[in-house]
Amino acid sequence: MVSTRGAQVLVASNRGPVSYELRDDGSLHARRGGGGLVSGLSAIGPDAGALWVCSALSDGDREAVRRGEGESGVRMLAIPPDVHSDAYNGVANSVLWFVHHMLYQTPLEPVFDAGFRRQWASYETYNRAFAEALAEEAAPGAAVLVQDYHLCLVPGMLRELRPDLRIGHFSHTPWAPREYFEMLPEDIRSQLVWGMLGADRLGFLTWRWAFAFMECAGVVDADRIHPMSPTGTAARYIRHTPTGAPPLKTTHIGVHGLGADAEFLRERSHRPDVEERLTALRAEIGEGRRTIVRVDRTELSKNIVRGLLAYRQLLDDHPEWRGRVVHVAFAYPSRQDLAVYREYTAEVQRLSEEINAQYGTADWTPVLLNLKDDFARSLAAYRLADVALVNPIRDGMNLVAKEVPVVSDEGCALVLSRGAGAYWELGEDALVVNPFDILETARALHEALSMPSAERAERTKKLAAAATALPPAQWFLDQLTALREPPEPDAE
Ligand code: F6P
Repeated sequence: MVSTRGAQVLVASNRGPVSYELRDDGSLHARRGGGGLVSGLSAIGPDAGALWVCSALSDGDREAVRRGEGESGVRMLAIPPDVHSDAYNGVANSVLWFVHHMLYQTPLEPVFDAGFRRQWASYETYNRAFAEALAEEAAPGAAVLVQDYHLCLVPGMLRELRPDLRIGHFSHTPWAPREYFEMLPEDIRSQLVWGMLGADRLGFLTWRWAFAFMECAGVVDADRIHPMSPTGTAARYIRHTPTGAPPLKTTHIGVHGLGADAEFLRERSHRPDVEERLTALRAEIGEGRRTIVRVDRTELSKNIVRGLLAYRQLLDDHPEWRGRVVHVAFAYPSRQDLAVYREYTAEVQRLSEEINAQYGTADWTPVLLNLKDDFARSLAAYRLADVALVNPIRDGMNLVAKEVPVVSDEGCALVLSRGAGAYWELGEDALVVNPFDILETARALHEALSMPSAERAERTKKLAAAATALPPAQWFLDQLTALREPPEPDAE
């Protein structure tokens, strides 16, 4: 396929950097998002010939595509809503997300039946739409950075259409352990791995997830896929031959632990809207009380329910904290098209109310639950948190664990699950917990609340330094450089 447009750097992700709202008067209102990729792309500058390919998700997005009114530098794909829903809700979020985060209740699920196969066909169609758009837009030899589990098949499809491109894929999630990955049907496993191996380079947030992928790839097709970790070098790569005969191809494996954007967070968290919310939050919490803060999407992997159970255990085991601590829990709506997410949100609400009914008094509400997305209020909570509770079952990285220490006004003790990618960078200065162990988490909360303020401040300083080691712009640029300049064969 011949390039018709000529972008030099392309990013592909399901959710793009902008979304459109269709107003009653027929006008379109654009809202820009944030995050590592947005900072990264702005770091390479407006003249770099960059293009972001993403899905049109809302009615407003689809209308913007229809009118041809989208922002320059962004191409939204108006994939038919039923195909998108099958691919995004059905396969990406209900199967791949569950596999990588180990979320199934295995006596009853997963069930890979004819309905799943229909959804899988949509996943293929949706990936193909991305591959074709990228092939159409990329300049000869351009760098393409494909994001996440939604688009695992894109590298392989794109490689067939445009062998000249430098293709990278980055996983923002964990990668499943082999035994869990092997729950997927054999041909699906094979398609996923071969799809990813179409890339020149695969990026992960930690070596734990990178090694898990290498192991899964090796067992999918042991005759044709060879994961390599040569002794005496830092190189990790996979040699593979789709046809079973030479030449062997190489996919490099790299790790880029996305860090917090200190400059942005520190400036943003001192704006007037945050100050206003800080005053309001302090009044709701009450004079002189300690706070345990969590900020998450209401996402199954975030383990919000066990966090509440641990907090209740703390109040049971340590009556001295009753009336003296408040659990400020932010649980923003997420993936509400899926019944299991709606039920989970309801359980978070139910349990919060139960704890408040059991322990609350006329002037003390033990749990302040926030279900409405309010970034400024979360930043206010980051600033005043005495303890941050980050206890996911499994998480690619978890940026909240990195952001709180950066923003904290007076130091914050971090209770951190060993299932979070961030554990590998922050574990030393956090109180580390098994996310399934309620008693251990309750003990860690007690220890965190009781930590002397000098120790808390000292640990927070070290946590903030580790958390900002790789700011988003550098994280992106490192990947781009590594993709464009593969290591010499001798270095392997
Ligand atoms: O946290 C992992 C991640 O894949 C992010 O990269 C991505 O932004 C998000 O999950 C997907 O969430 P959503 O389904 O709301 O787009």
